[in-house]
Amino acid sequence: PPYRVGVIIGSLSKESINRRLAGALQKLAPKELEFFEIDYSRLPLYNRDFDADYPPEALEFKAQVRSADAILFVTPEYNRSLPGALKNAIDWGSRPWGQNVWADKPTGVVGASPGQIGTAVGQQSLRATLSFLNARQMTSPEAYVSYSPGLVDDDGNVTVEATAQFLSMVMEKFLEYIARVLTVIPRP
Ligand code: FNR
Repeated sequence: PPYRVGVIIGSLSKESINRRLAGALQKLAPKELEFFEIDYSRLPLYNRDFDADYPPEALEFKAQVRSADAILFVTPEYNRSLPGALKNAIDWGSRPWGQNVWADKPTGVVGASPGQIGTAVGQQSLRATLSFLNARQMTSPEAYVSYSPGLVDDDGNVTVEATAQFLSMVMEKFLEYIARVLTVIPRP
């Protein structure tokens, strides 16, 4: 497939509904998109003292982001913002100064929560950070998924037909978006 999408899941929970959603999105996506997960669970807490000598986990994380044609964030909302672990990973990717891996990267942001708000506020916080870091962002369509138990079954299928159709449309648009950005900003 022409485009490799790095998936960053904003939850470290084994039971994560966002992990389930990420799996479902991969199944619904057009075949031109190939997905791989970028794990960030072993990153220490960032501080700038690391800038002189990044640990191997952080170098590997940055290499994986760099290697992706695009990044798909699938994230919960924590206390009306993005989860701290996800923010920490993004901070690692942004430094040392001048070596920001997010710059010009095509990105998409989606998320699921059990409540009606569907991670809308968390996604806006994440988008503010991505904007500052000069990532490209698909700004529309947005996907705020209100997750009821069973929405994604154990095989990764979305059980509500209208939601399945909506999410495949979002992935179709994401493919178009990535293709458009990469005609202007060539892959490194
Ligand atoms: C939450 N949850 C939550 N939900 C929401 O819609 N808005 C919010 O601000 C928060 N805040 C929040 C903070 C913390 C610390 C936790 C643990 C949870 C509920 C959250 O949406 C729910 O636990 C999801 O299942 C988390 O996503 P994963 O881990 O299942 O992918």
